[in-house]
Amino acid sequence: MKIVRTTAQLQKAKKELSGSIGFVPTMGALHHGHLSLIRQAKEENDHLIVSIFVNPTQFLEGEDLDAYPRREEADIRICELAGANILFMPTIDQMYEKDELCIGAPAIRGYILEGQKRPGHFDGMLQVVMKLLNLSGATRAYFGKKDAQQLALITQMTKNYFMDVQIVACEIVRDEKGLALSSRNVYLSESEKERALCLSRSLKRATKMVMSGELDSDTIMKEMRSVLQEADEVEYIAIVDRAFKALKKVELGNTIILVAAQVGKPRLIDNIWI
Ligand code: PAF
Repeated sequence: MKIVRTTAQLQKAKKELSGSIGFVPTMGALHHGHLSLIRQAKEENDHLIVSIFVNPTQFLEGEDLDAYPRREEADIRICELAGANILFMPTIDQMYEKDELCIGAPAIRGYILEGQKRPGHFDGMLQVVMKLLNLSGATRAYFGKKDAQQLALITQMTKNYFMDVQIVACEIVRDEKGLALSSRNVYLSESEKERALCLSRSLKRATKMVMSGELDSDTIMKEMRSVLQEADEVEYIAIVDRAFKALKKVELGNTIILVAAQVGKPRLIDNIWI
C-alpha cells in the first residue's frame, strides 16, 4: 500500500493504476462501518483508494474539529490489511488555498434537518468530496446510508455537475445491540451507550408500525418520540422520501425515517430506509 500525502503524489500513483478504482473517503478513526465500505469497494473494483482527512470546512465554529478522534497508526494498519492500493492522507494546505471558489448545498435539501442544525456543514462537505472525487479518479465511491442526507447531496452533486463517478450507498453497520457505528461513539460512556440505543429502538418501532399497516407519518413520529425519552434532547424525527421531501404518509420503497438526538456529549443520528 502506498501512503501519499500530497495531491501530486496521489495523481502520480493513480496514473499507475489501470482498471476500475473504488474510493472510500473518510475522516479516519476507522471502525467496522468504514471497514464494510472498504471491503465492498475492494470487492467491486480493480483498485482501492482510501482517504483520511479531517476536513475543517465541514465543522462549524464550536464543533469538535480539534477533538475529533485521530488514530493515524491504527488507521494505516486497517487500510493495509484491507488491501488498499493507495492511502491518501493530505494536510489542510494540500487541500485548500485561500479565497477558494466554493460549492453551495442546495437551498432546501441542504438546509433542512442536519443542514438546519449545522448550517454550512454541507457546503464544506460537498467542497471536499468534489475535490476528493476529482483527485481519486474514482470509478465508484462508497458512502454509508447512516449519513443519508450527505449521501443524497453527494449523489445530487455528481448529477448536477455531470461527474463521471458512481455513488454507491452502503448499509448501516450496527453493534450487537443495534447502535449505529460512528467515530463519535467513543465519546459515549457505557451508560450513555445503553441510552443511545433508544435511537435504533425508535426506528425499529417505526418499522414495526409500517409493517403492520400504519403509514401515517405523524402517528409514527409521535410513537417514536415516546421511545426516545431516554435521549437528553431529541433534535428531529423526520419521515422523508429518497429526495428528502417530507412525507405525510410512508411510501414503501421510497421512504427514509430519520432521527437525531443528543445523548451525553455527542449528537447521534440514525435512520432506516423503508
Ligand atoms: O462522512 C464523512 O466521513 C465525511 O463527511 C466525508 C464524506 C469523508 C467528507 O469529509
